Amino acid sequence: MIKFALVGIGHIAKKHIEAIENAQDAELVAVCDSNPVRLEEYQGKYETYTDLDEMLRTNKDIEVVNICVPSGLHAKLTKIVAEHKRHIIVEKPMSLKYEDGIQMIEDAKANDVKLAVVHPNRFRPAVQKLKAKMDEGVFGTLSHANATVRWNRNQAYYDQAPWRGTKEFDGGVLMNQAIHDLDLLLWLMGPVESVQAMAATRLRKIEAEDVAAAVVTFKNGALGVIEAATTIYPKNLEESLAIFGENASVKISGRTANYIETWDIEGESEVDTSNLMDEIKNDPFGKPGHQWIIEDMVEAIKQNREPIVSGLDGIAPVALILAILESAETGKKVSL
Ligand SMILES: NC(=O)c1ccc[n+]([C@@H]2O[C@H](COP(=O)([O-])OP(=O)(O)OC[C@H]3O[C@@H](n4cnc5c(N)ncnc54)[C@H](O)[C@@H]3O)[C@@H](O)[C@H]2O)c1
Repeated sequence: MIKFALVGIGHIAKKHIEAIENAQDAELVAVCDSNPVRLEEYQGKYETYTDLDEMLRTNKDIEVVNICVPSGLHAKLTKIVAEHKRHIIVEKPMSLKYEDGIQMIEDAKANDVKLAVVHPNRFRPAVQKLKAKMDEGVFGTLSHANATVRWNRNQAYYDQAPWRGTKEFDGGVLMNQAIHDLDLLLWLMGPVESVQAMAATRLRKIEAEDVAAAVVTFKNGALGVIEAATTIYPKNLEESLAIFGENASVKISGRTANYIETWDIEGESEVDTSNLMDEIKNDPFGKPGHQWIIEDMVEAIKQNREPIVSGLDGIAPVALILAILESAETGKKVSL
């Protein structure tokens, strides 16, 4: 059994707790939050701490720490965990600054510990099927791709904690919500060469952007169109990802991108396509992405290999978002 601990026991920590409880060969032993009220419901079940350093000094058996604090604090806490020689699973966005992300990778390397970043959408059944087809090369020459996030995060969402919507600790729709979709775009299409973008804060009283639009050129020559907003009235409308190539068009969509809307692949029979669509419809969510990430860390430790979503994977969408924001601010095309 690999012993896990969590730091930051807010909203997303609940998913981590459930995922660790359900994961193979993983056991949650301790939780830490600087706000003692957040720890009350866990007293008696796990060890509880209000200070990360104290938790790691006290319990030497903890092997992995999942970092679930506000995004702007990820780098600082990663350093503490790495210096205690424990492995790290850090929530997205890995960091809000490029230098912080690089520092996190270096801190993990210098202390010989593993660093995984939580991009759970890669493990969605429809996304896995698409990735397998892209790896087979069935798309031929890629024309373009599209990532759309049309969601609602109302003012009450941003007002629930002072860090939300700030540039220093959270970022806007790109860093907080659309980063999952940008991660998928980069994973499926490869690296981006340049970006031209616009962003605005239209409806929410926050410092960062609540709507953004960008056009990118991938290094392979294909284009990409990104639209992201948390301003959609009155509720989440759509999250979708579409890839268009010479011999294939695939669109994954829904309120969350879990369903296959279009699956047209040259040479694939109608029966095979309809069986695939049925398979996804019957189980659109599959095993929770957080559980995949935790089980992968357990295997990475046992086999002494890199986690599937590594620090380098985590920093790629952060770099793309920073380029989008720079282009939006300067009005100029930005090269990566
Ligand atoms: N992967 C996903 O789908 C997903 C979804 C939601 C949030 N997140 C990410 O998870 C992170 C946390 O988001 P959340 O919505 O759970 O936030 P939250 O505000 O609900 O919880 C954060 C917790 O961290 C605690 N905290 C702050 N500083 C601390 C410190 N120095 N030491 C110990 N505890 C500290 C706070 O008291 C709070 O309880 C963010 O990075 C966010 O982007 C990821």
